[in-house]
Amino acid sequence: MRSDGSWSPGEADAAWIESLARPLDPAFAAIERAARPTGIPILDRDAGRVLAVLAADRRRICEVGTAIGYSTLWMALAQPADGRIVTIDPDTERTTAARVHWRAAGVADDRISIVNEPALAAFARPEPDLAGPFDMVFIDALKDEYAAYLEALLPRLERGALVVADNVLWGGRTSGSRPSTPGDGTSSLRAFCESVIGDPRFSGTILPVGDGLLVATWRP
Ligand SMILES: C[S@@+](CC[C@H](N)C(=O)[O-])C[C@H]1O[C@@H](n2cnc3c(N)ncnc32)[C@H](O)[C@@H]1O
Repeated sequence: MRSDGSWSPGEADAAWIESLARPLDPAFAAIERAARPTGIPILDRDAGRVLAVLAADRRRICEVGTAIGYSTLWMALAQPADGRIVTIDPDTERTTAARVHWRAAGVADDRISIVNEPALAAFARPEPDLAGPFDMVFIDALKDEYAAYLEALLPRLERGALVVADNVLWGGRTSGSRPSTPGDGTSSLRAFCESVIGDPRFSGTILPVGDGLLVATWRP
């Protein structure tokens, strides 16, 4: 209950929402189990469910930040059968593990291509897989680089494309509800959110799910 007497959802509501969901592909639980002890940061499960809804009619997705393939799998299993994803992460050990999980979930290799390079370097050279046009992009890598990823991606977006970015609430630091420290990515994330949501070429907002998902439709 908020101080003004209005209501906001809590843990019991989240548990009820989770109870409604259809059974998860076992590959999701396998990734969650693998990520936890190694400290690999992956999307929250509820944010994954939102990502799947957003990806459901998207055929050409670019993802920045693969890790071991959790967010990629949410999108791949939700996409139409002819959907494709190109995903970027310089960490080959992680993306090799990701491929194993995607195969376990029955995703054909040719539906997901991996670019093992820092994203800004990959965007700066001719790379056929990154040429676009994309109808959805998902940004989840270095927080200080979100704005630069989007700038590189803008010319590759088709009209109506969805831009989604994770961690934009940054544990409450972006809004200032929790303290931040210089260099922790907070000011970059704040500037990124302000520039996208304030840009009349986008229709965007932040969904307070997981650590905050920015969603914006490109309507130049
Ligand atoms: C938060 S994790 C991605 C999690 C993933 N999207 C998921 O939810 O399953 C961030 C990833 O970005 C990768 N990364 C680091 N620097 C990068 C860069 N310059 N370009 C692209 N990815 C980068 C890291 O190796 C790491 O695996």
